[in-house]
Amino acid sequence: MAKLKFQTPTGMHDILPEDQAYLRHILKVAESISTFYGFQRVDTPILEEAELFEKGTGVSTDIVEKQMYTLKTRGGDILALRPEFTPGMVRSFLQHGMHNLPQPVKLYTSGPLFRYERPQEGRYRQLHQFDLEVFGDQSAAIDAQLIQIFVAILKELKLPGVVVKVNSIGDSQCRPYYKKALISYLRNKQYAVCADCRRRLKTNPLRVLDCKEEKCQQVRSQAPQMIDYLCQECKDHFKSLLEFFDEADLPYHLDPYLVRGLDYYTKTVFEVFANLTPENAEGVGLALGGGGRYDGLVKLYGDRETPAVGFGMGIDRVLSAVKRQGVIRPSSPSPKVFLAQLGEAAKKKSMKLFEDLRKANIPVSESLGRDSLRAQLSRADKLGVPYTLIMGQREVLDNSVVIRTMGSGAQKTVKLQDTVEEVKKLLKGE
Ligand code: HAM
Repeated sequence: MAKLKFQTPTGMHDILPEDQAYLRHILKVAESISTFYGFQRVDTPILEEAELFEKGTGVSTDIVEKQMYTLKTRGGDILALRPEFTPGMVRSFLQHGMHNLPQPVKLYTSGPLFRYERPQEGRYRQLHQFDLEVFGDQSAAIDAQLIQIFVAILKELKLPGVVVKVNSIGDSQCRPYYKKALISYLRNKQYAVCADCRRRLKTNPLRVLDCKEEKCQQVRSQAPQMIDYLCQECKDHFKSLLEFFDEADLPYHLDPYLVRGLDYYTKTVFEVFANLTPENAEGVGLALGGGGRYDGLVKLYGDRETPAVGFGMGIDRVLSAVKRQGVIRPSSPSPKVFLAQLGEAAKKKSMKLFEDLRKANIPVSESLGRDSLRAQLSRADKLGVPYTLIMGQREVLDNSVVIRTMGSGAQKTVKLQDTVEEVKKLLKGE
């Protein structure tokens, strides 16, 4: 095929009809479970002030440093295509005075995000997330509940081997001690890590633990662990979280080096995978989602202490996993009736009948562009509908319709105004 003049931008893709059925199904499952748990939907703009992410996500994170799509408006504002939901959700929470509502406030959203990534399987420049955020509750019970929701969504989507990797990265009290210990461990290993990590050593040493390079992973395997540096409060929080996991039978795996690549996290961090077992969770597959607690971010934007926790589920990755699994095959309702017509006048009348069938919730298909009855009946056969309604010139004059039972070929004529009721009766008897 000749090269097309226009194609989707690198790292971005169309979501075609065959995938739309999966997408709708995933969103339906995620929304119904979340609303059951008391979450309400908020939609934020795709563009936000770039500074929102610089301050929140963090200037030294890959997302802000390398992946943001930033633009200057004609009015001179510096905006960014949102690379993640959390900062915008916090802005919305504060801007609309939701801190005055009874707490906790539970919000969810979904939609496209943009990250200038190196495109590869499961890593796109326009990605989609389903995102949950809870504001105003500091208890580990809420962290556990969120994770339970996430696991429930994936299980409802019939994904096997769902495992939560979890860690605590402490808070502003204890993390500085850990950071110091980590830097001193890494100091004489700077030539054993990759060039990126050598730089990270100065800007964001915790990110070295997150690097996927083989040699950095080796260095990591002997590194001090945050869990040994947690202050009493963070330790109690983490212990309580794990007790909730045990009680709820949530499949988890402690990952002492899980840090996540965003600056705002405190205490709990987690990522969720499929096709693993808690005992054998070392696989480096792609996370279907991740999240954690961020007790300092609301204060950073609004001078108001509000604990918060949330997660983002990667819809593109979940969609591929559900498709690959092959257990769920969502489809749109198949038509029960085919509406065939012969001649211009019949075509016009059948448009009104088509609309009446829609109002009566009867899935119907047609082939208005075709004129031959044989072609239309063969289309009806292919669709496997039990009945075809035929409107020819005689029926137009008589104000009637022929109902053909496709299996037997039997036909009967009914009045046009009775057609919908007749079809309903026939379908009920199926
Ligand atoms: P994140 O780990 O950056 O967290 O993204 C969450 C999930 O989005 C990932 O686990 C992955 O499934 C999916 N994802 C991320 N980047 C891509 C990509 N380039 N292509 C395809 N899928 C991708 C956050 O975004 C946080 N805001 C989550 C959160 C909410 N934390 C607290 N509240």
